[in-house]
Amino acid sequence: MPETLIEAQDAAAADPARGHESIVVIDFGSQYSMLIARRVRELNTYCELLPPDAPAEAIAGLDVRGIILSGGPNSVYDEGAPVAPQWVYDSGLPILGICYGMQLLAHQLGGRVIPGTEREYGPATITRAADSRLLQNLPAEIDVWMSHGDRIEVVPPGFTSYAKSANSPIAVMADPARNYYGIQFHPEVVHTPKGKEILQNFVREICGSAGTWTAGNFIDETVAAIRAQVGAGRVICGLSGGVDSAVAAALVHRAIGDQLTCIFVDNGLLRLGEAEEVVTTFRRNLNINLIHIEAEDQFLSALAEVTNPETKRVRIGNTFVRIFEREARKIADANFLCQGTLYPDVIESASHGSGSAKIKTHHNVGGLPADMKLGLVEPLRYLFKDEVRRIGEALGLPEEMVWRHPFPGPGLAIRVIGEVTREKLDILRLADRIVMDEVANAGLYREIWQSFAVLTDTKSVGVMGDFRTYGYAVAIRAVVADDAMTADWARLPHELLAKMSNRIVNEVHDVNRVVYDITSKPPGTIEWE
Ligand code: XMP
Repeated sequence: MPETLIEAQDAAAADPARGHESIVVIDFGSQYSMLIARRVRELNTYCELLPPDAPAEAIAGLDVRGIILSGGPNSVYDEGAPVAPQWVYDSGLPILGICYGMQLLAHQLGGRVIPGTEREYGPATITRAADSRLLQNLPAEIDVWMSHGDRIEVVPPGFTSYAKSANSPIAVMADPARNYYGIQFHPEVVHTPKGKEILQNFVREICGSAGTWTAGNFIDETVAAIRAQVGAGRVICGLSGGVDSAVAAALVHRAIGDQLTCIFVDNGLLRLGEAEEVVTTFRRNLNINLIHIEAEDQFLSALAEVTNPETKRVRIGNTFVRIFEREARKIADANFLCQGTLYPDVIESASHGSGSAKIKTHHNVGGLPADMKLGLVEPLRYLFKDEVRRIGEALGLPEEMVWRHPFPGPGLAIRVIGEVTREKLDILRLADRIVMDEVANAGLYREIWQSFAVLTDTKSVGVMGDFRTYGYAVAIRAVVADDAMTADWARLPHELLAKMSNRIVNEVHDVNRVVYDITSKPPGTIEWE
């Protein structure tokens, strides 16, 4: 193995995203902070999140056009409550404070915030008191989503109030001379129907960003950056069947062609037809060097008699790393590893926000041993999932692969409750395919975050024709969500549920009962294990 160890940071510095006009969000811990960044990017302006203690140098490589101060759980009067760093005010850039961010503007610039005795939470209507660039081309009354305790009583010097709601006498404030704007509501959530226009007024009109952050530009620039990083080197990439690794590999292949070798460890825990699809797409359609390891037996023996979900995850993770490492070592001149890391993973590992308790171990690709000194190629590390899908489409990956629902690394092993056997996996695969097909036939696949079947370890009595049956109960799980942190069970039409149930009981041997899971997250989780 070569000695060159290129740190992830180097890869980040070379990232083309950083050359674009951008908006920076100072993240004060709101559950919506990431959503703000996504919304700005939907306007084709690049956007990054920074923690409140980030130094001014953090934006050195960015062409920043404006700053958004996010909401957050604190009151400005809490001890140690985070504040906007001084460089934000010294930058001369336009600022938009949202909720807590607005209260900070008031608090830090000489206005007065009063601690709320009651929270204002939910829908509200704001009424415009005067014209402002932030609300231009919008009606005089706008429906918005509020979620705050404190409110502003006195605007800071230079500011004027531009709109009020029933519970917030100052719902919008601005100092147009300095381009400082504060809004008490959340424009980033869907419950503020005109939120996109408000953010657009800020990003386009006030910050003057033209919007050059597009899929086409991203591909061209990333291809150039990968070529510059890799040179004549050789890259290996693990494929999982999921969209992230597929798009990352396709992008690297476009940049360096045959210098890329993909390794697909088929663990036998994938959905019906998925392994074949990976092989066909990558080897035949895209002409990518692909090493296909059929390792079902190894994974199933590692899982023999295991019923504990965390033990399943650890066994699967360890088996994967062992096989991947063995195969990677065979590519003697490899000097880079390509991974489909996304921006939310980068933010989480940079310890933004609060470190929530570990509920389940989510590991897909374990680390490689330290003696394999591989540089990291992470072409998606500044992208959100929806952006990755757009890039995947633009690269010509099949629609089913690009739009596939998220699938856990341990695969069907955590959807077979209790011990995992080949027989149970085969039963689950058929039931799962019916759920997937029927959701797609009903035109609901993209609206739903995840939909799948779970093979419970409960058997029950049924009757078919003149015969008594004793078979498995299958559970159908379908959830709607914006991200996997919270989710609600999908209100699937009864006819659709009936069709799935009929088909599963009739077509899947050994299943005689179907139930629908009506638990939200929290308190449930999306997966059963
Ligand atoms: P839960 O079940 O925790 O799932 O609500 C949240 C999201 O994570 C996926 N998930 C996993 N993904 N390895 C993964 O890569 C795992 O071990 C794992 N467990 C759950 C789940 O499908 C959902 O999208």
